[in-house]
Amino acid sequence: MSRNIIPLSLGHPDPETLLTPELRKTMLQVINSPDAHTTLQYGTEQGTRSLIDFLVGKIQREQGLSLQPANLMVIAGSTHGVDMLARLYARPGGVVLVEAPTYVDAIHVFRDHHVELCSIPMDENGLIPSELEKQIVQLHSSGVFPSILYTIPNFHNPTGSTLSEARRIEIIRIAQHYGLLIVEDDVYRDLSFEGAVPASFYALADGQQVFSIGSFSKTLAPGLRLGWLVGTEEAIQHCVNCGTMQMGGGANPFVAHMVAEYCQSGSLEKHILRLRSLYKMRCNVALAALSQYMPSDTKWTCPAGGFFIWLSLPENVFAQEVKRLALQEGVLVSAGEGFFVNPGDGKHNLRLAYSCAKPEEIKAGIRILAQVIEKSRVEPNPRIS
Ligand SMILES: Cc1ncc(COP(=O)(O)O)c(C=O)c1O
Repeated sequence: MSRNIIPLSLGHPDPETLLTPELRKTMLQVINSPDAHTTLQYGTEQGTRSLIDFLVGKIQREQGLSLQPANLMVIAGSTHGVDMLARLYARPGGVVLVEAPTYVDAIHVFRDHHVELCSIPMDENGLIPSELEKQIVQLHSSGVFPSILYTIPNFHNPTGSTLSEARRIEIIRIAQHYGLLIVEDDVYRDLSFEGAVPASFYALADGQQVFSIGSFSKTLAPGLRLGWLVGTEEAIQHCVNCGTMQMGGGANPFVAHMVAEYCQSGSLEKHILRLRSLYKMRCNVALAALSQYMPSDTKWTCPAGGFFIWLSLPENVFAQEVKRLALQEGVLVSAGEGFFVNPGDGKHNLRLAYSCAKPEEIKAGIRILAQVIEKSRVEPNPRIS
């Protein structure tokens, strides 16, 4: 008999939020419309115009930016954007800077492009600007000039932290001084619990030396494989001209057309409001359970949005052992190692995702996890006398 596993591991949206009646209705409308066949043809390289127009309007409204359609292109999800930017802007053998910890698949994508990764320390408030500058100066002094800073400024994966506006401004100063391109992966921006999110790097830098990436994966559905890239007109044109976009006929034109119809009907805004309150409630359940059950020497972050809480375990508790024992008890969590360029840096960390588990599962899962943490403490070796 198979036991139900409590899923506190994957950073996926709750499956029950995916096929809403509004999305199903739009899908059927698009398929049944008399010109459905035209949306199944190769699309334009920059992407489906109706979706570009919707996104430009949404970003202008929400971020007070003056954006033109030429500043935005449609991509097949954030991962596609990161891959394309690594291909176009990182030199093979060169260095890309990432946060420590960072999104595990970004590490994977950059490594596919044969770049060296150098990680910059974070604290509970995100990337530390002085550490960034220290690393760049050190690299420059040995003749190494990093090309890209990849950062997740809002509701960070895996830590849940959000970078303050003051830090963003300081990071822009550093990036501009040392000729670094900032790639902000902003896939969780819409999932703020309280509404207000600091201005994006793109807004604060007036677009200079910044690409901003958005995605429908965390709100609408990851299976749509749809996102967007914002940059200066020249930078977007450079991306539109790359081989895969020229050859590929734009990113997912059929899906982009369908999502544009869905968004124009006002359904996206309503859906996002529902998601915010759903994930806020789950996050609060998780935080209350952590306070109730965790040993006093275990620490955790308090996210203001997104999917994740980051745990710092006591020195004598190892994440892999906790993960193994927790799974035996039916709870799936992510050990910290995979989120670091130097895996050893995450041996005392766990990532908890509250997005896919029901409130009662979150509570039960964290209670079990707390017991496992106590059980897995490694006692110091007795002194040999
Ligand atoms: C920071 C970050 N970027 C990108 C992605 C993946 O986005 P997409 O599905 O749009 O490729 C994730 C998903 O976990 C993520 O956490």
